[in-house]
Amino acid sequence: MSDRNLPSEENRRLVLGIETSCDDSSVALIRDGILVGQLVSSQTTIHEEYGGVVPELATRQHLQNLLPLTTELFRQTGGNIHDVALVAATRGPGLPNALRTGFTFGQSMAIRLKADFFGIHHHEAHLFSSFLNGNPPELQLGSAHFPFISLIVSGGHTLLVLVRDLGDYQVLGKTIDDAAGECFDKVAKLMGFPYPGGPHIDALARIGNPNTYRFPRPMINDPGFDFSFSGLKTAVRYFLRDHPGAIEHEDSRADLCAGIQAAIVEVLTARTIQACRKFGIRRLSAAGGVIANRGLRESLEVHSGRHGIEFHPSSMEFCTDNAAMVAAVGYAKWMRHGRGDDSLRQLETDIRPSWPIEESGEACPVGGME
Ligand code: KG4
Ligand code: ZN
Repeated sequence: MSDRNLPSEENRRLVLGIETSCDDSSVALIRDGILVGQLVSSQTTIHEEYGGVVPELATRQHLQNLLPLTTELFRQTGGNIHDVALVAATRGPGLPNALRTGFTFGQSMAIRLKADFFGIHHHEAHLFSSFLNGNPPELQLGSAHFPFISLIVSGGHTLLVLVRDLGDYQVLGKTIDDAAGECFDKVAKLMGFPYPGGPHIDALARIGNPNTYRFPRPMINDPGFDFSFSGLKTAVRYFLRDHPGAIEHEDSRADLCAGIQAAIVEVLTARTIQACRKFGIRRLSAAGGVIANRGLRESLEVHSGRHGIEFHPSSMEFCTDNAAMVAAVGYAKWMRHGRGDDSLRQLETDIRPSWPIEESGEACPVGGME
């Protein structure tokens, strides 16, 4: 990517990304399309004792984190804050007050620095995180080879999206109840694992037999591409009620984890591959915390290969919520449109906690800050 289209003065080459949609505070810096630094402050240990994310605590942590994290980012990268030409902050969807902290912080920075600003759709950022490649990472949108399908699976979302171009998205399927990560976590809680339980199930599933206990594969053959995971959770609840001994013994506990994981993985894989085939799409990207699951990565890899689909999972570092993906999408949009979005000029200071991804293209500029 060349910098000849940079909308600001030549020496302003930095993009600051900010992410606060849930329980991770993250800031990242991009210089000329290359990621030069990222910091993530995870709040897992704070929420752990409550068994899930407590929105009020998350908000308070973001407020405490944002300024020190940003200062540290500039210190570590040697970046000069006055070289920031664009600030990109997550605008939605997510926890309202958590979003508000990062969005307002970002807008304030942009006003102070006379930089452009982009409010970014959180899922849109996940869509492209698989294409943050290289060392140091660059958003290689060229390698995105539109169109592609993306599976986004985390504690908060389960989404299958057809990506025709930057800003042109069609949601093919989503969960009608629990998100895939939420299902992992709730089932793990029933089994007595601490929050978040997904990684614990993953670890034990590796040594368990997935065929000892069989759990339902909800909606696997239904028309459309939606997902449902609450029935699986209920099935596990009843199973544990009727077989309390199953979690007492190490072997059966591992088999149980393997059986539960196999059900989730099979549903996610089957629906994703069905969607690729139906729409004739030969590229698949995948992101979100649950993509860290080894069974799911392997299954998507194997089944993609069988159907001649290129599989591009996000690297572990960019699977979970991070500001690099926010900065990267902000940068890509800014390069394409030549300016930031309209939010500052129109004094649109509000976040969008339930922002449909199909509408995120609207945020593209007809103007920018003047
Ligand atoms: O993307 P993320 O860090 O945060 C959001 O929810 O936005 O995803 C966290 C979710 C949790 O539900 C966690 O249990 C799940 O990702 N997760 C996993 C694994 N690692 C994280 N689930 C299954 N297997 C894993 N290895
Ligand atoms: Zn996320």
